[in-house]
Amino acid sequence: MKITVVILAAGQGTRMRSELPKVLQPLAGRPLLAHVLDTSETLQPEQIVVVYGHGGEQVREYFADRRINWVEQVSQLGTGHAVQQAMPSVNAAHTVVVMSGDVPLVRPETVRSLASAAGDQNLAVLTVDAEEAAGYGRIVRGGAGEVLAIVEECDATDDQRKIKEINTGLLACPARLLGPWLDALKAENAQGEYYLTDVVASAAADGVRVNAVSAESETEVMGINDKLQLAQAERACQARIADELMLDGVTLADPQRIDVRGQLECDTDVFIDLNVLFEGTVKLGHAVIIGPNCVIRDSTIADGTTIHANSLLDSAAVGKNCSVGPYARLRPGAEMAEESRVGNFVEVKKSTIGKGSKVNHLSYIGDSEIGTDVNVGAGTITCNYDGANKHRTVIGDNASIGSGVELVAPVEIGAGATIGAGSTISKNAPANQLTIGRARQTTVSSWQRPVKKRTDR
Ligand code: UD1
Ligand code: CA
Repeated sequence: MKITVVILAAGQGTRMRSELPKVLQPLAGRPLLAHVLDTSETLQPEQIVVVYGHGGEQVREYFADRRINWVEQVSQLGTGHAVQQAMPSVNAAHTVVVMSGDVPLVRPETVRSLASAAGDQNLAVLTVDAEEAAGYGRIVRGGAGEVLAIVEECDATDDQRKIKEINTGLLACPARLLGPWLDALKAENAQGEYYLTDVVASAAADGVRVNAVSAESETEVMGINDKLQLAQAERACQARIADELMLDGVTLADPQRIDVRGQLECDTDVFIDLNVLFEGTVKLGHAVIIGPNCVIRDSTIADGTTIHANSLLDSAAVGKNCSVGPYARLRPGAEMAEESRVGNFVEVKKSTIGKGSKVNHLSYIGDSEIGTDVNVGAGTITCNYDGANKHRTVIGDNASIGSGVELVAPVEIGAGATIGAGSTISKNAPANQLTIGRARQTTVSSWQRPVKKRTDR
């Protein structure tokens, strides 16, 4: 069976009250439509058609590098009309799987069963038993349980409104059957729209079997129309991600207090404490520990490393058995070799910290190359910016930088050099020697502390 997926995404999404088109609203850090596209791709379709309308240019631009056949629906005359716009670009030998751009949580296995329930002979609809069916199309079945029709809420009789089985909006059907049924649609209903759902009655009339596939849960097929539903879907999505992580062997201090907006890949025995946010692509090695309240974006953390509480990592690479934080900030280009340490209130940007080196307290390391087994004392600052350009600081192996040192770049500290505390170093310091660059301390022995003058007034 060859598949064309048609994703309906032309709706306005006015209830979002946002300048961002509905299908670009983020769920777990990615647009709603990205979730639907990813799920549809698991069917290995020959083609994916996205029917767009409102805000379409922005949507097309966002997904410019994906293999999508874009079809515009200029005026939104209904779901049937929307699918009809896609049909000219669909191969008649394909089975069409219709998905909705605003139903992002549907699982790949569900869409797969829907597609195979259609095969190349039948119509298949995805249904669910709803707690609250109001607003949805109802599944009307005959005496033998066969599906006869879908009636929209506003067209339903009182008895039909009592039906709890609802249409999720997802459907699959061979194109050669679907095409003629769509062409025959009439907008003679309460909303004056061309209903995709009317093809069910056509199938029944033509003696084509209609298979109803049930979704696992209502959550899986929830449609997102406003920010409240978006937030509910976000929680559901995060719960699903947390479940997957735990089943993969990750220990979560509280599965309700982790957020993954992107891709988190964990090796064995990873522990993640409370309130951690992952963004982009993050890789955690074996036995990595992430302390509470960390934000980690696009970073790699190797085996045995601990990131202590309240640390922020962005595009950083941390080697094995390192220690970061608490309250550390690793900015883009921060690279820590194995067994190195970055402590509290330390900011590192575009710098490499060699094996076993330590920057433990209150420092700024920017555009620097720090060798192995270097110790950088508390409050040391690389002055990397002259107001116009950035310059590099190079510190050789085994150097020891005292506390409160300013390294005015470009500057090199030789291997094994010692820099006295409080120095301002603006010239290269030789290897294996003590360099001090600070005003000499003097004591003024004759000095007397001023006393307050008496004012007789
Ligand atoms: C539709 C179904 C209903 C089902 C419900 C599930 C029909 C007639 N009704 O109702 O049985 O219970 O979904 O949520 O199909 N769209 C377009 N172009 C249009 C109209 C809609 O692209 O002209 C897109 C929307 O962007 C959305 C999807 O189709 O992604 C569904 O549209 P929506 O208006 O939400 O359908 P409902 O009337 O709620
Ligand atoms: Ca809807």
